Amino acid sequence: IPVEPFDLVIFGGTGDLARRKIWPALFRRFVAGQIEGDVRLIGAARGGMDSAAFKEFVNKAILKHGGEESGRTDDLSSFLEMLHYVTLDARGDAGWVELAVLMRPDRIRAFYFSVAPSLFGDLAKRLHAHGMADDTSRIVVEKPFGRDLETSRDLNRVLALHFDECQIFRIDHYLGKETVQNLMAIRFGNVLFEPLWNSQYVDHIQITVAESVGVGGRGDYYDKSGAMRDMVQNHMMQLLCLIAMEPPAKFDPDAVRDEKLKVIRALDPVRGADVVRGQYEAQGERPDYRTQVEDPESTTESFVALKALISNWRWAGTPFYLRTGKRLRDRASEIAVVFKDAPHSIFGADAGRHRNILTIRLQPNEGIELGVTIKEPGPGGMRLIDVPLDMTFSEALGPEDADFPDAYERLIMDVIRGNQTLFMRGDEVEAAWAWTDPIIADWAESAAPPLPYVSGSSGPDEALMLMHRDGRRWREIKP
Ligand code: BG6
Repeated sequence: IPVEPFDLVIFGGTGDLARRKIWPALFRRFVAGQIEGDVRLIGAARGGMDSAAFKEFVNKAILKHGGEESGRTDDLSSFLEMLHYVTLDARGDAGWVELAVLMRPDRIRAFYFSVAPSLFGDLAKRLHAHGMADDTSRIVVEKPFGRDLETSRDLNRVLALHFDECQIFRIDHYLGKETVQNLMAIRFGNVLFEPLWNSQYVDHIQITVAESVGVGGRGDYYDKSGAMRDMVQNHMMQLLCLIAMEPPAKFDPDAVRDEKLKVIRALDPVRGADVVRGQYEAQGERPDYRTQVEDPESTTESFVALKALISNWRWAGTPFYLRTGKRLRDRASEIAVVFKDAPHSIFGADAGRHRNILTIRLQPNEGIELGVTIKEPGPGGMRLIDVPLDMTFSEALGPEDADFPDAYERLIMDVIRGNQTLFMRGDEVEAAWAWTDPIIADWAESAAPPLPYVSGSSGPDEALMLMHRDGRRWREIKP
């Protein structure tokens, strides 16, 4: 279904995110018929381009990152006709009048701040001064949304000067992933899981977001962040919330976000021994972390594993183990819900230990797997084995339907539709910082550097110990 006509400005429209994600996503939604009619897509940037050069930039971006659809040349030329370009100074007057003329008052007007957070306040102020911050306007902001509680509060404050919370769309692109949205469908669309979804039946939960890439060309940004700020405070936290939250009464923005916020606020502070940080070392051709960033003595972590405890009725006593890192063995993200042992084995001690594990594979090879215990076939008595009930989405749905849109496609369309369910509310972001800040402060205080781990491994051994100590172990990282 096409969305209503809109005018969309991408500030930072010639930047890296715009090139890799935003323009290709808009193009694919255009091909899908969701963007049609008299729509204006406006790139705004500091300069160095004219309209023709900008169109060429977007053209190239789509050819490179637009997937199969980019082969549709007629569509591509029609899409390029919707584009406009404005040279604009976020901190000065240049370009603002020109932009205000392009934006039509009878349209939904959306402004995507794909720029450094230090410019958020300037952009908001000038949008207001030039009459573009009325009730129909929406702004979209990207992470990093601050680097701690204080800076995120400052950002929330400057945006709130000119925009209401219902106009602010804070992107966490993990929420736009199909499989992440599926967490809610699995939990609240089935009667099967929810009665068991608590500490009485769940032994523990593992959340792994493993990447095989290193920091590559993003060393500058990454070295100032580290895995805790880059992944745990946002993406991992969102996954934890969707798994742990109470059922919202409705699938609507505030109902969902209220429940997520309650989870974050119920998290215990993480104790020193319950968090492990690591930094990758070289292996073969692969360079070590420190040679990929400017500071040869950097103590920034490229890996974090931690044990989180949620102090509420549902989860008291069931730990959530989280780990994420770069240059790990494979790119594989999954959530595993490990259920408790059956209260009594009628098959005796020889039958061994068997546990149900529900695994939700987020990427790649998206799907769900439920480990169940059955009798080993054969005449040899009652021997038990575990087999997976495997629902790989590409098999269950057919490859066509399991061809998931990129997260940005969904999220940008939600901005136009005005649906904030998959965006973070200001208080949620602040609560997440309030939980990660003390961990980061502890690291800064201790002189201990991150633990080295070999590129291509599954992280430092101490991360394995984090679970071994509790008599548990991580699942293997494999796609
Ligand atoms: C980004 C982080 O937000 O998410 C990157 O800044 C990380 O460091 C990326 O690589 C992971 O996203 P995805 O969609 O590839 O899992």
